[in-house]
Amino acid sequence: MEKLINYTTEAFRLAFHSEPEHIFLAPGRINIIGEHVDYSDGFVLPAAIDKHICFAVKKADDPETCSFFAKDFDDSFSFNINQKQTPVSQVWVNYLLGVFNAVQESGKKVGGLEIAFSSTIPMGSGLSSSAALECGFAFILNHIFDLNLTKKDLALIGQKSEHTFVGVNCGIMDQFASVFGKEHQVIMLDCNSLEHQYFEANLDDYSLVLFDSCIKHTHLTSGYNDRRKDVDKGKKILWEKFPEIEKFRDFSFSMLDKVRAEIGETPYKRCLYLLKEIKRVEKAAKALSEGDVKYLGELLTETHSGLSTEFEVSCEELDFMVAETLKERDVAGARIMGGGFGGCSINLIKDENVDEVIKNISAKYKTDFDIEMKVYRVKISDGIYEYKRNEIII
Ligand code: GLA
Repeated sequence: MEKLINYTTEAFRLAFHSEPEHIFLAPGRINIIGEHVDYSDGFVLPAAIDKHICFAVKKADDPETCSFFAKDFDDSFSFNINQKQTPVSQVWVNYLLGVFNAVQESGKKVGGLEIAFSSTIPMGSGLSSSAALECGFAFILNHIFDLNLTKKDLALIGQKSEHTFVGVNCGIMDQFASVFGKEHQVIMLDCNSLEHQYFEANLDDYSLVLFDSCIKHTHLTSGYNDRRKDVDKGKKILWEKFPEIEKFRDFSFSMLDKVRAEIGETPYKRCLYLLKEIKRVEKAAKALSEGDVKYLGELLTETHSGLSTEFEVSCEELDFMVAETLKERDVAGARIMGGGFGGCSINLIKDENVDEVIKNISAKYKTDFDIEMKVYRVKISDGIYEYKRNEIII
């Protein structure tokens, strides 16, 4: 962390020839279970992690200009805050412009800023660097200009930015986790009401370890939006037939079966996966609260199978990784994590055997795909916060 903060501070000095006044840290997230159900009234079990985007920030002398320096892209962007914002060709900029736009649309008054940022959240790995970027900036605007936005507002602004300026119709899970994360706690979020509760991440003598396939994806082109379209098609017909049902999760399997022919095979499979996944999350929350790690692991593995065969968002590399991991001793469960189409698997492995599993899977993955797998042993951490500069050792 110190390293990231110092690195970002130095980037700020180079870009703006002065000292930053604030440092903010916005985390990435893991998701224990509940994939793709956040846009279908489901429950999810995410948590913020100890990988961050660090923002070094100062109020600008020119109150009408916001300037960014993205250290990791070695790229800059400035805009006049009084002009109407529209998406630009630099993708990273759109996450920020979308946030700015959403904040202004809500009638809040903001001024000029200078911001340098840098990240330890690997991009395109399913750890939600985008949500950290969006919500981090929303948090900064709120903090510096006293906007009185709630944490929920910040998460919704981040999501809106992604919908309107980036073009990914994501759910709310990633933004919610980045804002609401708590050390050692998993969030059980009802994506319909946004009510949530925290669970102690008590995994006994097991750890959650991420294996990064290094297959990069962006949900702008990955097929994420297409999955939403399939699901929307299914939902439309379900609600036409059963208008009395309020939430998607309240449709029964038999209702879905009744409209199978009309919905068509692909939307049917997608909806079937979602209904099963929502039920799995409820079981997983219970297993987690009772410390039943073995059962939690089984549920994770079932999710992988659903994501691979019914929702079809896995890929050859992740299917291989998960199948091989499950053959190892002391592995309770494994699955692809996040939106899919590449990225990481999340694995529940007994502490004493973690090193052995990593060694074996890395070797097999290298042999079959000629790719060096990356491993992240993440810690469940707090949501976005301001880091106090006097704690920095330079
Ligand atoms: C991406 C999206 C989330 C969620 C997951 C899948 O991370 O941003 O909203 O849909 O995929 O669970």
